[in-house]
Amino acid sequence: MSIQYCEKCMSFFLHTPNTTYVIGIVNGKYLGHIYYGKKIQNQNLRHLMGVKADPSADNINPGDTGIFYDNFPFEYNFRGIGDFRECALDVHTMQGHHGALCEYRSHRIFKGKPTLKSLPATFGSVAECETLEIELFDPVISLTLTLSYTVFADNDAICRHVRVRNSGSEPVYLDRVLSAHLYLPENAYDVITLHGSWGRERGICRRPVSYGISRAYSSRGVSSHQAQPFIAVMSPNTDQTAGEVYAMNLVYSGNFIAQTDGLVNDDVILQIGINPDDFCWKLEPGEYFTTPEAVMVYSAQGLGGMTRTFHDLYRKHLIRGKYKDCKRPVLLNNWEATYFDFNTEKLLDIARSASQRGIEMLVMDDGWFGNRFDDHRALGDWVVNEEKLPGGLPYLVSEVNKLGMKFGIWFEPEMVCPDSDLFRAHPDWAIQVPNRTNTTLRWQYVLDITRPEVLEYVWNRLYSVLSSANIEYVKWDMNRALTNIGSQDLPADRIGEFYHRYTLAVYELQGRLTSEFPKLLLENCSSGGGRFDPGMLYYSPQIWCSDDTDAIERLKIQEGTALIYPLSSIGAHVSVCPNHLTGRSVPFETRGHIAMLGTFGYELDITKLSEEDLEMIPKQVEMYHESNDLVRGGDYYRLASYAENHFVDAYIVVSKDKSRALLTMVAVTYRINHRAFLLRLQGLDPNANYYIPAMDSHFTGDALMNAGIFIPSPWAGGDYRSFVWKIERED
Ligand code: GLA
Repeated sequence: MSIQYCEKCMSFFLHTPNTTYVIGIVNGKYLGHIYYGKKIQNQNLRHLMGVKADPSADNINPGDTGIFYDNFPFEYNFRGIGDFRECALDVHTMQGHHGALCEYRSHRIFKGKPTLKSLPATFGSVAECETLEIELFDPVISLTLTLSYTVFADNDAICRHVRVRNSGSEPVYLDRVLSAHLYLPENAYDVITLHGSWGRERGICRRPVSYGISRAYSSRGVSSHQAQPFIAVMSPNTDQTAGEVYAMNLVYSGNFIAQTDGLVNDDVILQIGINPDDFCWKLEPGEYFTTPEAVMVYSAQGLGGMTRTFHDLYRKHLIRGKYKDCKRPVLLNNWEATYFDFNTEKLLDIARSASQRGIEMLVMDDGWFGNRFDDHRALGDWVVNEEKLPGGLPYLVSEVNKLGMKFGIWFEPEMVCPDSDLFRAHPDWAIQVPNRTNTTLRWQYVLDITRPEVLEYVWNRLYSVLSSANIEYVKWDMNRALTNIGSQDLPADRIGEFYHRYTLAVYELQGRLTSEFPKLLLENCSSGGGRFDPGMLYYSPQIWCSDDTDAIERLKIQEGTALIYPLSSIGAHVSVCPNHLTGRSVPFETRGHIAMLGTFGYELDITKLSEEDLEMIPKQVEMYHESNDLVRGGDYYRLASYAENHFVDAYIVVSKDKSRALLTMVAVTYRINHRAFLLRLQGLDPNANYYIPAMDSHFTGDALMNAGIFIPSPWAGGDYRSFVWKIERED
């Protein structure tokens, strides 16, 4: 890791362990992008910006600037001056004029990484990372722009963000201020974004980059089920093991865009940041605006290389707290077991049976408060319903604790139902536009937590419930999109700030929660995986991945999720069959194998299981304890994708020292007359000898990876069969 500025060639060189990123200064003021890719040595590469190698040479005709502005590979570009490509910054003045041209002014390089004000971000010590800040300035509107880049000693990601300061004497309005803009040279590229819906999150969508804009976005106020704040472009032949990939992921949980702009000269612009639609931030003189952080990853080892860089970065430099590096308790959540129909007795019946089988925590889901007998009412009334739970939380929790189990609880703090005491008392606390009938979604409104009194109410309710008993886990849910944007505290010219202010308020609440209750295990959730993003991972080490708990559907959902996010963050449970959403029946063992490569837990009424399934639970729990260190800390390699081949799914997790591995394979559909499936492993030490107990066979790593193993069909013997095999190095 290192960052250098070369005075002679007026270029910045940012080196990660395996990559290099180069920026240059032209005519003493224009910041251009030179190179991003495999590691190279520092040298004069200015010709890659289409300018003269001599930095003192004049490259722009001051009498005719337009051609330059519309063609120069700006490191960060601006709307209004003649650059007609998708811009990174759009600003307008009190007079309504758009346009900026921020010129290089100074830079500083220092050890460590500053925090981002009020925003989640990656972190690292002074020994672990180094930062470059380049200051640009527009003298006409007195706008100071600081582009910040951090490189890490142990990771190939580059984390960047932008800070804008109004250095003038009048307010300015930011209409668009993206976190990252990357200019890629002429090439054919494929692009991947992740898309889906409720119950079908993060499907991998790959297609060629074409001319014009291809955009993944959210305008729902959350990162959403429909898209991910992620984009990757790659050489068209890229697969899991080979090919060049450039990826971006935004550490943000609100509205975003992640897009390519395919230019007519066949260059491609890659951008990520806050969604400029519905965004306009008024910046008073002297004020700053800080964008969310963008994580950029270049991989020369295909998508697999990209994935492992993201996983390592997030595990080491983003996820925090007590559970960052340790095993999470195996939990049982009562949602699919009882829905709203439960009481203390029922929960204790479940807990008793669960504790006998090694399950370590009971999570009480929705329905414990106010008049919440169904999802039509009571959100906001965070007072225990003693009709259901006589003796309240203190009694229930102590009984659960007596069984040797931890206790966790569900909350949906951001919401209010029209039918609730809270709404009746404070109808103005819901986000709304005066005189327009407010939109209900799941019979609920969203609280305007951008208002301090509303935020304090929510915080006080959370605080009081969590301090009333020994609660060791919270599932923080968020079950609807934001609509009808209006806020009593915001004047007309600040309504465009609402979505971002809302996201900051969520961060404020979760920040308070994690610092006031440092031992708490927080799991985020949003109707399943509607807010599964790096912003949330900063507060909670795990996120509920999807309300679809059908193990076979989960193969696709978890594959898309694991493309970016570590397995330790993927909330995955064994639920009953036929599955409540899909009606599909999958063997209990297979359901366990598929949940095992996530956080692992159960979401079913254990008192109603067959003896055969019950007997399997202690074995699964044991396997979880045996394998979770590896799953949490190891390297994940995707071997076969059911989403692609419609037949078989396979992946392997290999310990960092390559001494242990866990191979999972799911034969989704049984193939008649199919001799065997050839599986080539990845990630092992080619020169080591390995033993596979399930085959009672010994192989070298190179044989396992190049020749592969032949998995005979008879093991499948029906649909949805699976195995998890251990692989051990022989020293
Ligand atoms: C959301 C969550 C579910 C469950 C319900 C409760 O849909 O994703 O897991 O908690 O809310 O209402």
